[in-house]
Amino acid sequence: MKLDEFEMERIQSEWENIVDINLTESGVSPLSIADLVPDDERRDELFKTSLGYSQTNGTVELRETIAGMYEGATPDNVLVTNGGAEANFITIWNLLHENKDRNEIAMMLPNYMQMHGLTKGLGGDVIPYYLRMKGNRWLPDIEGLKSAVSKKTAAITVCNPNNPTGAILEADNLKAVADIAADVDAWVISDEIYQGAELESGRSPSMFGLYDKVIVTNSLSKAYGLPGLRLGWILTSAQQHTKELWSYSDYTTICPGKLSDMLATIALQPTMREKIVGRTAGIIKRNWDILKAWLDDRLEIFEYIPPQAAAICFPRHNLPISSLELVDRLLREKSLLIIPGEHFGMERYLRIGFGYDSDKLRNGLSRFDEMIETL
Ligand SMILES: Cc1ncc(COP(=O)(O)O)c(C=O)c1O
Repeated sequence: MKLDEFEMERIQSEWENIVDINLTESGVSPLSIADLVPDDERRDELFKTSLGYSQTNGTVELRETIAGMYEGATPDNVLVTNGGAEANFITIWNLLHENKDRNEIAMMLPNYMQMHGLTKGLGGDVIPYYLRMKGNRWLPDIEGLKSAVSKKTAAITVCNPNNPTGAILEADNLKAVADIAADVDAWVISDEIYQGAELESGRSPSMFGLYDKVIVTNSLSKAYGLPGLRLGWILTSAQQHTKELWSYSDYTTICPGKLSDMLATIALQPTMREKIVGRTAGIIKRNWDILKAWLDDRLEIFEYIPPQAAAICFPRHNLPISSLELVDRLLREKSLLIIPGEHFGMERYLRIGFGYDSDKLRNGLSRFDEMIETL
């Protein structure tokens, strides 16, 4: 089975370290180790850490800390992984491998396309259901989801908050998804990597606890500004299932990095966690104001729904050029990188990331203006 190219990751891998201005990140400017470990004593401890293998499913301390963030979870519900990417990979691989009579994944679109490509690459079928623009919101098409599931459905996927739209699914929508999954006895995979990166205060709701066949994936890469730790987790409602997934991680990366496990445990302690997500919210709000003002001055070109979370906006444009061509010209002529909607299966859209440096964002937008002038 041939793997489809993961277009968004490919364009980032090739160009993000070459261009002058990269507006493809969906998270915020990263923290440093010094931000996490400000006092000398803790730093000393860190320096003396012996670099052996770490506990393969994550140290008890880290799994306890993660479990503490979800009502009703215990450390045995948690498997620590190398980023959200490994969490999603193991989850899909396991479900398709262990359910020979269920090879369909009902997938929310638009979406981060990792599970999409993997499902197809592993011989499964993707059955899409859509988020649709309704008024000033992106809302899931619940009727569409009902007709996307059957006894062949291994899982329904949810990405909440959503990449690329930044939309948050509220509790009633999550409950509706859980009920539809229950009707066909399917799992729900809820990728909640942007939880904690909300524009307004209050955390977006988790799928955990809404149904007895829920798998949550998450990581420190977005809301916590720590993508370089490559530290993620899977939380399932059935401990037996967590154990099964753990045995799959024996075949991928064996264990999380020892330093990453330690630093993640520090980052997720309640006080530090609040401090980090507070910083994230500050960056997102500040930079959203810049991007929003720019879009609002160009409403004859762009139509957009404001993101509710994540440092990304997904506007639609009416320029006389496809998003793919536009992004290619911005890249080559203006050294500015953004993601074309085609990489999410949606032409005429663009995903603009705004979670990094404010001046670079302004500069990138004025280079975009220069390009618009030429069209
Ligand atoms: C929805 C979603 N899930 C998972 C990932 C992968 O995250 P990580 O960097 O933790 O592997 C991303 C990265 O952009 C994402 O947007």
